[in-house]
Amino acid sequence: MGNNNKIGLNSKKAQQLANKLNALLADYQIFYMNVRGLHWNIGGNMFFELHLKFEELYTNLLLKVDEVAERVLTLGNTPIHSFSDYIKTSELKEAKDIQNGEEGVTLIVATLQKLIVKQRELLKLANDAEDEGSSALMSDYIREQEKLIWMYSSFLKKI
Ligand SMILES: [Fe+2]
Repeated sequence: MGNNNKIGLNSKKAQQLANKLNALLADYQIFYMNVRGLHWNIGGNMFFELHLKFEELYTNLLLKVDEVAERVLTLGNTPIHSFSDYIKTSELKEAKDIQNGEEGVTLIVATLQKLIVKQRELLKLANDAEDEGSSALMSDYIREQEKLIWMYSSFLKKI
């Protein structure tokens, strides 16, 4: 048990995983605020539909913020918890003043694509560490967001 943490995972691998999960947490915080901004600022004839869709999405992202942070804790590490650290750590950029619905949805699709790539990397790391808990979490997120990409892309489709 010497090299293992409290849940029996290799401490070094768990630490590496927690660092990557912290980076994902930072992305989710920035994404959350971006989508909240879209919910507020969007205009035009799709307002009622998108305003609600964006609320649905940011509510889901907030749930993920908590799940990812608590996974970091479960692995024996500390989740980052300040806006300055989120901005420093996240690979996402803050999005401001987007009023156009298509522009907003395009940003959401691009962000989901980035997150999926990152989560697939995390899934590999988790599998390598035999961390079923983190693997399952990443699998769920990936499957869910792949479907969201299909749906948001359908919204953008010109027919
Ligand atoms: Fe609202």
